[in-house]
Amino acid sequence: MDYFHYKGDEAYCEEVPLRSIYESYGSPTYVYSLATLKRHCERLFDAFSSYRTMLCFAVKANSSIAYLKEVFSSGYGADVVSVGELERSLKAGIDPKKIVFSGVGKRAEEMTRAMKLGIYSFNVESAFELDLLAEISSSLNCSVNICLRVNPDIDAKTNPKITTGLDATKFGMRLAQIEPLLPIIRDHKQLNLVGVACHIGSQMIDMEPLKNAASFMVRMAGDLVQSGFPIKLINMGGGLGIKYRDEVPPSLDEYANVLLNAIRPTGLQLVIEPGRVVAGNTGVLLSSVIGVKSTESKNFIILDGSMTEFMRPAFYNSYHDIEPVKSDLSGNGTEIFDFVGPVCESSDVLGLDRSLHRPQAGDLFYIRGCGAYGASMASNYNSRVRPCEVMVDGSTIDVIKEREALEDLWRLERF
Ligand SMILES: Cc1ncc(COP(=O)(O)O)c(C=O)c1O
Repeated sequence: MDYFHYKGDEAYCEEVPLRSIYESYGSPTYVYSLATLKRHCERLFDAFSSYRTMLCFAVKANSSIAYLKEVFSSGYGADVVSVGELERSLKAGIDPKKIVFSGVGKRAEEMTRAMKLGIYSFNVESAFELDLLAEISSSLNCSVNICLRVNPDIDAKTNPKITTGLDATKFGMRLAQIEPLLPIIRDHKQLNLVGVACHIGSQMIDMEPLKNAASFMVRMAGDLVQSGFPIKLINMGGGLGIKYRDEVPPSLDEYANVLLNAIRPTGLQLVIEPGRVVAGNTGVLLSSVIGVKSTESKNFIILDGSMTEFMRPAFYNSYHDIEPVKSDLSGNGTEIFDFVGPVCESSDVLGLDRSLHRPQAGDLFYIRGCGAYGASMASNYNSRVRPCEVMVDGSTIDVIKEREALEDLWRLERF
């Protein structure tokens, strides 16, 4: 459920016509709906309200500070994977005690900063990381909460590029790698093993793998308790999928039940790290047509948005609905078009084989489902400036990130 809709034949975000956003701020522009974001935050909270659950928003999904402020003020903690995400979260007002730090390769200075802040826990993903944490915590004389991130070798049945719980992926540790670490943890005064963590993949629709992962984690937690580690939490990561096209994801209650049925009997705290399910449908990318061209086999609509601003279709072959801002472009007499951007890559595709009336230069479109892994993945490839981001609240528009200026492209260069 979101608040992007048509009034007559014009597309709106809440009470604001998308066209007026284009007229004021140009394109490509990310447009977020605050009502949608608040609704998603609340609904997910409600689904877990019957049990001690800490919800830590995966900052990588959308890391704009004003956006994070809204998420954190709904009671969410943060799951960060770099010191950059950590500092952004602090700027957005998070309490460091609500931060979990994931990631396969944390650097010493990142660990040091997080440790000094007293974050909730580090998800440790390798032996070398444990060594480094042990060394830093000793030198700072600072005790640190750690969770062991496990790789349960369970196929999340999602896109291979966002599958993270298989042995062939770089994430987490197998049980055999964890066992030799336990004596090290036991002997180290500053390391508190507080839990176990996993994240088996993203955009999961089938809940069976998550159910299996939860059983795996419960068994592992039980074994650790038996071995004398008084752990207090199980972190099940993020991963719940959303509807981009014809997927039928489970309801939030179904998702919560899969996790709670497994975790509740343990009495341990549940931590989750949702990203996409909170942010995905809160945002669209507004884009205008530069021109339309055809070859013998294809028709192309060249938008001013591209893989540089929105990478998912090029990166993951992901599908996103692309809707006209003025809806009379669909109906009889349509042709088949590929929506592409101006970037010099054949993979610069935003949507393939879409049926619509031939648009003209200047017509506006909006790409749906861009609130997660959209702006946060934008780059400057082809020396393109990163786009403007606006947050709509009823009939109010707030610019939460200005479009970069050309000068920003070489601001850090020395020549
Ligand atoms: C460790 C970890 N936690 C949480 C997430 C968020 O996943 P999602 O956006 O699918 O909820 C990710 C995404 O890759 C992740 O790597």
